[in-house]
Amino acid sequence: MEYLGNRRGSAPALQNVELSREEVRPVFEHLMSNIELWLANNYVHADLSAYNVLYWQRQVRIIDFPQAIDPRFNPNALSLLTRDIENICHYVACYGLERNGQRIAEKLWRKFKNAEL
Ligand SMILES: Nc1ncnc2c1ncn2[C@@H]1O[C@H](COP(=O)(O)OP(=O)(O)OP(=O)(O)O)[C@@H](O)[C@H]1O
Ligand SMILES: [Mg+2]
Repeated sequence: MEYLGNRRGSAPALQNVELSREEVRPVFEHLMSNIELWLANNYVHADLSAYNVLYWQRQVRIIDFPQAIDPRFNPNALSLLTRDIENICHYVACYGLERNGQRIAEKLWRKFKNAEL
């Protein structure tokens, strides 16, 4: 994975930055599209939160994958996926962006399961 930051230090976690109003939705969409891409490739991060997303000059980088799971074989995959998505929804809710994490997770899960058949 590519380093994000500069010589003075690594990029801050999303949890520790103050987003402007217009940054919130693009960050959210970026994270959701990454989650969907991983799922399509049989990965669920399983420890996703604003602490494991770095943000630097409008670049988003998700880190900390050692606990990622393969949803084809892990019986807790849907609940881990839902938790990941809800953590991000909870984060953007602090900026007034209301998103239903449970519903997003169920929709992605159905799409993934249909693709698997
Ligand atoms: N690609 C990267 N670019 C820049 N900094 C990084 C990168 N990956 C990790 N870091 C730095 O290392 C820190 C910890 O990384 P990570 O979350 O992967 O480990 P961790 O085991 O969860 O540690 P922690 O308990 O501190 O979160 C990050 O908060 C960040 O400062
Ligand atoms: Mg971490």
